[in-house]
Amino acid sequence: MGVPQPAFYIFKCEQSSPPGMPKPSCVNPQTQDLFQHLAGTLMQKGIIATVQPVRTACLNRCNAGPVMLVEPGHFMYYGLTKDKIDRIIDEHIIGGTPVAEYIIPDELWDAPISPEAMQQQMGR
Ligand code: FES
Repeated sequence: MGVPQPAFYIFKCEQSSPPGMPKPSCVNPQTQDLFQHLAGTLMQKGIIATVQPVRTACLNRCNAGPVMLVEPGHFMYYGLTKDKIDRIIDEHIIGGTPVAEYIIPDELWDAPISPEAMQQQMGR
């Protein structure tokens, strides 16, 4: 038997904007410890070997931040706090039921477009 793949990847946006930037970003002084909280909680619960937290750059949903994407499944969680992360870990990651009320609204996260369809839209 080989080394098992992770069951989940959690991509946490770690983008911060310089002071004075009008565009919001996921990391600011109030939210800068969310990734540490996520990773620490996975470690504390003994599941970090199969749930891989990943720091990412901007996931392009800045106005809804802080955000994180749970794969598999394309589940984008928004407006994160430590309490919300705790519940997502317990109910979605461990329990298997996504936390519907924390998932980004459909108007900000519509169905994906295939790369082939994207090329056709672009006339290539
Ligand atoms: S800064 Fe986090 S989605 Fe853009």
